[in-house]
Amino acid sequence: MKLLITGGAGFIGSNFARYWTTQHPEDTVVILDKLTYAGNLQNIADIATRVTFVQGDICDTETVRQAMSGCSTVVHFAAESHVDRSIANPDVFIQTNVLGTHTLLRVARELDIARFHHVSTDEVLGQLPLETNERWDENSPYNPRSPYSASKAASDHLVRAYHTTYGLPITISNCANNYGPYLYPEKLLSLAITNLLEGKKVPIYGAGDQVREWLYVEDHCRGIEAILQKGTAGETYFIGPGEQRVTNLELIQKVLGMMGKNENSLEFVADRPGHDQRYALSIAKIERELGWHPTVALDDGLQRMIDWYSTNDIWWKPIKSGDYKKYYAQQYGTRG
Ligand code: NAD
Ligand code: TYD
Repeated sequence: MKLLITGGAGFIGSNFARYWTTQHPEDTVVILDKLTYAGNLQNIADIATRVTFVQGDICDTETVRQAMSGCSTVVHFAAESHVDRSIANPDVFIQTNVLGTHTLLRVARELDIARFHHVSTDEVLGQLPLETNERWDENSPYNPRSPYSASKAASDHLVRAYHTTYGLPITISNCANNYGPYLYPEKLLSLAITNLLEGKKVPIYGAGDQVREWLYVEDHCRGIEAILQKGTAGETYFIGPGEQRVTNLELIQKVLGMMGKNENSLEFVADRPGHDQRYALSIAKIERELGWHPTVALDDGLQRMIDWYSTNDIWWKPIKSGDYKKYYAQQYGTRG
């Protein structure tokens, strides 16, 4: 089979391309990626001979047509993905996440793609209260609250509309927060680990009492594989760690302990505007229908991630220079 991976030079897309080309060496893989600040050819340097890389924008119809031509399957990761950047500059989120997804759908329909898999997020559902243990399932209503999650929600709706209206064979996965190798150091865990390796503090928004669910990226890749192989067209599947409840502060306290640091390395900073309190996904459907289960426990995954960043400063040190410094100064003041 010939597979198009959009956003394959980003964090999850590159992990997926590595996973897929390892598990399915007989397949042909094309990566389409614009190489924004978040895309990096270093992320796929070790699999360069196993994929065809096309640099281009998912908003450009002709580029998309050429990249998708001859493919039977599309796995769509390309997106602007960071909530804080969406608060500072929402326009590009609408452009890439909404219009870019629509361009892909239009071309997928034209080329009769056999499966269009759309990679989305739990954040489209909004927030759950801290006081309850309620979890969302695939029938829960959407209530996005940041420009990022609103743009991803719009893309989910378009993907579903293409199935309902035109019969395009789509599937959607909404996943919890991913962590692991190649996570760009603007997200909480990669920023924390790299700051600690540099002897800097970790900024914690507000009181650090928000709750996210953390899934090791390879488990996400396996979940998408299960959906491509066994999922039903038109269906949505939630992917997450299942029973896990950890606040941001507790998570970073774990990391501090694993890295031999103490709470002097924390810095409580102004809260994110409209900060979602809690996300929690029921994974009963994918477990029951597709037999997928998370395999990497949080402590193991964190240790693997710390080990990877400790031995791969050649990857993250160049990233944390240049424009990143401007971003950091804008987001966190002069701290760090
Ligand atoms: P990322 O920001 O690390 O990577 C995004 C990639 O998309 C980059 O390589 C970038 O160059 C590329 N890209 C951006 N705009 C593009 C455009 N216009 N045309 C072509 N390529 C473009 O993101 P990620 O964390 O790997 O997330 C991948 C997908 O998974 C996103 O759709 C995101 O919404 C979703 N997701 C992420 C998480 C998470 O925890 N990171 C969780 C659930 C879902
Ligand atoms: P993030 O990694 O940006 O993912 P998302 O907002 O998509 O869940 O943030 C994870 C959580 O960590 C979120 O509640 C915001 C918080 N956070 C901090 O406390 N400090 C930081 O410097 C960052 C980037 C995030």
